[in-house]
Amino acid sequence: MRDSEGAWREALYGPEGFFTRGSLPADHFRTAPLIGPELAEALLVLLDRVDFALGRPERVDFVDLGAGGGELSAAVRSLASGSLGRRLHVTAVDVGPVRSLPLVRWERSLPSAVTGLLVAHEWLDAIPCPVVSWPCSDPWLDRWWPLRPGWRAEIGAPRDAAWADAVSRVRGAALAIDYGHVRADRVAGRYPEGTFTAYRGGRRVEPVFDGSCDLTAHVALDACAAAAGGEWVLVSQRDALAALGLSGEVAGSGMAWLESLARSGRVAELRDPAGLGAFGWLLHAVDVPVSSLLPPLPPWTP
Ligand SMILES: C[S@@+](CC[C@H](N)C(=O)[O-])C[C@H]1O[C@@H](n2cnc3c(N)ncnc32)[C@H](O)[C@@H]1O
Repeated sequence: MRDSEGAWREALYGPEGFFTRGSLPADHFRTAPLIGPELAEALLVLLDRVDFALGRPERVDFVDLGAGGGELSAAVRSLASGSLGRRLHVTAVDVGPVRSLPLVRWERSLPSAVTGLLVAHEWLDAIPCPVVSWPCSDPWLDRWWPLRPGWRAEIGAPRDAAWADAVSRVRGAALAIDYGHVRADRVAGRYPEGTFTAYRGGRRVEPVFDGSCDLTAHVALDACAAAAGGEWVLVSQRDALAALGLSGEVAGSGMAWLESLARSGRVAELRDPAGLGAFGWLLHAVDVPVSSLLPPLPPWTP
């Protein structure tokens, strides 16, 4: 079963892989950056706080790691204004085909140093890892997901390493936004069959390793946090967006009212406790106090 990691990697990133061939998230599933500009608006509030905490440096980075179609990068670039907008450098990083976006640099690998905010939106869940079943002896499982008879699980070590590497390049803040789980729920047996699954054309399908579908698994965000270390918080998207002032208030009249109504629907989707609002925000603060970025919020309970 350990070879499942290799098969998963080949199916997504091999020569005929799902992402290598340029499959876009927009064609197969709905992610928050595809809903509208509201996530980018909230991230710009966070970036402004990072910028302030860093003392408004000459150059500020926004790095979109695992950028997919680049929608988040494009929205951040077009919404940024004033002094921050002038100093801002937006970089989209993805191993898939290069996409051309105005004023966004496209890279296939992470820059060695990032000063500002790095965001990995639904990136960690796309990192292949071993899919195993009981009995299986492994130090990561022992610590984070001790198996019981009949259980299946994913070994999150490759995601931990990838996240620790990303965070180590950052001065400011690094934020992973993803669906996932925490140890208490894993140990309690909430995922006896693990979470490895596949999507194609907007529907959940039986996983096959032929590059025809996206393969994914929930992220052990608590393990990623421990691996990257430093000062971090793990909170829900619902709470984080509220703390960043994203409101879905309906106001005005005529067209303005209609627009605010549509926006309110998009914000509600981002904050839906049974949907995207339940996503985890793992925020690492590097060389800045985490309290300068978010107020105290309840811990994430996925
Ligand atoms: C699930 S998609 C998310 C896309 C986008 N962030 C969104 O939320 O709509 C994951 C993306 O991560 C990219 N990816 C996976 N591993 C990567 C790596 N090591 N470096 C850069 N991009 C990677 C994939 O090619 C894919 O486009």
